[in-house]
Amino acid sequence: MSAAQQKLFAAQAALELVESGMTLGLGSGSTAELFVKELGEALKAGEIENIKGVPTSENTAVLAREVGVPLLPVDQAQRIDLTIDGADEVDIHFRLIKGGGGCHLREKIIAHASDLMAVVIDESKLVADLGAFPLPVEVDPFAFTITAKKVFDALRAAGVNNPDINLRRKADGTDPYITDGGHYILDCQCRRIPDPEEAAENLSKIPGVVEHGLFIGLARVLIVGEDDGARVVEL
Ligand code: A5P
Repeated sequence: MSAAQQKLFAAQAALELVESGMTLGLGSGSTAELFVKELGEALKAGEIENIKGVPTSENTAVLAREVGVPLLPVDQAQRIDLTIDGADEVDIHFRLIKGGGGCHLREKIIAHASDLMAVVIDESKLVADLGAFPLPVEVDPFAFTITAKKVFDALRAAGVNNPDINLRRKADGTDPYITDGGHYILDCQCRRIPDPEEAAENLSKIPGVVEHGLFIGLARVLIVGEDDGARVVEL
């Protein structure tokens, strides 16, 4: 069974958490996009009504408009009932690495403002230890080489063995990748992050760091697509 099918099962199962009248945080990435499409279908079919979506990226906003999910201008959002989003890695404590798609700043703002964050993943995202997926750290472009050295030191101080830090570049490999918020991303290959809480705390203290991709204490529901359906786990 392909990861794509598992993602679809997870996205379909996430729809069961949605109730008419909700304000929904709409995540980014391929699994969250499948959810947005399923939501669009459910709205068209009249199975759910009166939804307002708050997108976490420009790409998700475009998709939501295409499939007929009404959007709430983000500045008008006071609170969010439920956010459905994907992840790059998830451990047993529901700690996440996010930001493979470069959207983790907006994703974290929206998840943090939500009554509930549910994460939709295929099985491959489940890990014993976070860190095989390079940790994205969004930084201000100003003096980013200084910030990169601080990020290296912060990860080392949290027990990461020799982190390898690379400026994310556009697909053609030339210019730096720019986030929706106008920042750079440092992809930090840690191999293993022995103490994610300490790493998160250290990174948050660096002035040039806008936001890191460690999501700790945010996700409370995990929806894992498997070969024959989806498994819903609550923390
Ligand atoms: C976007 O920045 C990420 O946080 C995504 O949520 C993450 O990369 C998961 O994406 P997929 O669902 O495409 O694997």
